[in-house]
Amino acid sequence: MTQLTIVDHPLVQHKLTLMRDRETSTAGFRQLLREISLLLAYEVTRDLPMTTMEVETPLQRMEAPTLLGKKLALISILRAGNGLLDGVLELIPSARVGFIGLYRDEKTLQPVQYYDKVPADLHERVTIVLDPMLATGNSSAAAVTLLKEKGATDIRFLCLLAAPEGVKRMAEAHPDVRVVTAALDERLNEKGYIMPGLGDAGDRMFGTK
Ligand code: URA
Repeated sequence: MTQLTIVDHPLVQHKLTLMRDRETSTAGFRQLLREISLLLAYEVTRDLPMTTMEVETPLQRMEAPTLLGKKLALISILRAGNGLLDGVLELIPSARVGFIGLYRDEKTLQPVQYYDKVPADLHERVTIVLDPMLATGNSSAAAVTLLKEKGATDIRFLCLLAAPEGVKRMAEAHPDVRVVTAALDERLNEKGYIMPGLGDAGDRMFGTK
């Protein structure tokens, strides 16, 4: 079973509600997405391995906690993943970044891959996949399959909203992948949109329609 983490922090929930509001402007949506992605990044990296190092404060030497040095890769699923990428990179500036281009065939709802460029050493990295909407889960599961083929072993999936159908699909295809989200919504509609959702995340963040 996929491990599902719903980040119920008040700031995350408040910002998400503003993002759901159809009256929120493109600029407002983008700003909120940046802010919420920092908070989600905090949660998805919560279990990174730690060690200690010696530091000298102005007052004395001490053994202080530090990251073990496990390297990270952020993989943005184009195009909406880029909205999460900026905020997460702000928190983890040394992470390597990859991109996977997938679009959803509107009729079959199946993913079609048109681009990929990811770090070569994924087997050495904690890989965080960024896609705001875990809807059918078909494209998300396909992206994870591709990353595993390229050597990734420790994969987490970071999204803003998840549908039960998407969580189930990911659990079946990739039970080892931990999903972190701000909310688990009710269902998908007949067009594959998350309900109540926030609409098309790419359109909302880039102002397209
Ligand atoms: N992608 C979106 O942008 N929104 C949805 O509701 C589902 C998939």
